[in-house]
Amino acid sequence: MTLYDLVAPGLDLHGEPRYRIAEIRAADPLGADALLAALPGMNADADAPALTVALRTLVPDPDRVAALAITDALAAMRDIGILLGSLKRHGVEPVAAVPEVLPVLEELGRRTDMVPRDTVHHYTTWNPLGGRRRMYTGDRMESNLQDAVRMVFPSLVASLDTCAELARLEPYDPGFALALDRTAQHVQSMVDSIDFTVANVSPVFFAREMRSYFEEIDIAGVDYLGPAAAQVPLWLVDLTLWQCDRSNPAYDAFLDDSVQYSLPSWRDHYAKHKGGTSAVYKLSAAVSWEATDRLPPQLAASALSLARVLRILKTFRARHMTIARKAYSDEVRLYDVGSGGAPIALLRSVLDLTRDNETLVRRSVERPRTPAA
Ligand code: HEM
Repeated sequence: MTLYDLVAPGLDLHGEPRYRIAEIRAADPLGADALLAALPGMNADADAPALTVALRTLVPDPDRVAALAITDALAAMRDIGILLGSLKRHGVEPVAAVPEVLPVLEELGRRTDMVPRDTVHHYTTWNPLGGRRRMYTGDRMESNLQDAVRMVFPSLVASLDTCAELARLEPYDPGFALALDRTAQHVQSMVDSIDFTVANVSPVFFAREMRSYFEEIDIAGVDYLGPAAAQVPLWLVDLTLWQCDRSNPAYDAFLDDSVQYSLPSWRDHYAKHKGGTSAVYKLSAAVSWEATDRLPPQLAASALSLARVLRILKTFRARHMTIARKAYSDEVRLYDVGSGGAPIALLRSVLDLTRDNETLVRRSVERPRTPAA
């Protein structure tokens, strides 16, 4: 039984080893449990020499890495990764300090078909619960932030299927509204997550204590971002709803960079759907072809369902921006841009785009249209 079975019963896991959450969490292939329990202490003391020794101790022989099962390889990346971010937080480029980690990161990246460092999946979903939980600080607010992100993944996995189904349908199909209603149920978890964050993580704690652990690190001349919440792939949902045929340079650039941090099957989903036709476009076109004021019931139902999902996305983004703004306010922030490499202005643009799409869809149903001549 995995987390995904508990949260999304009946979800098809497609035989994906990356969804074998319980197995990955339980794995300790490098024997890192005791060492990582001491990590918050090393970070509190800013003890870069101890962190360097810890990383060197954990780095396995590259031959051993090649023999790891994929679930063990994911757990190994998780455990090495939290030391990478810790070293960088104290001003040390980890690969420069411990060069023998480079072939291991590259091999783990290859074995798992992911970037050659840890991602938000390693830090949250694949992180054990209870006493074995890997943390930079050991602070309750850090575990709350991890849990906030953890809680959305099962729903985003489920939304992949409903969005793929949506992409195959037209607004006149009864399944169109149904796929949107299911997507709405999944996306609601983003609102729950940000409400939980607002209630349990202070923006000052994020800005002053956590943000520095998510800095990028240099791996063979390429900068890779840390395992921050900005990697949560909400773009999976945007893509088929409105984004695939509505270009916005800032969001497009953010997506192009973010996609590499996601799971292989999600990257495939992105590649498959990015040249597609969005639900908003299909709906607007269908409505504009209707000559009379009264839309066919199926089309009206599709429009209402689409507006509902967009409204939920808008609610998440508005609340998220409020906390992000506080964490990046002049008085509080240590950095100008988020750990995903983008400024607050990006969040504003994406919120505006989401709102514009919602308004467009809502008006298409509400506005009295001119009868055909
Ligand atoms: C104190 C808490 C948080 C702060 C200060 C914060 C801040 C930010 C910032 C500044 C960005 C812009 C991109 C970048 O980082 O470079 C961003 C993006 C993003 N964050 Fe957060 N975030 C927080 C918590 C969360 C949580 C809990 C989630 C979801 C579970 C989340 C999901 C996202 C997503 C999906 C994006 C991409 C932009 C979008 O789709 O609207 N964030 N965040």
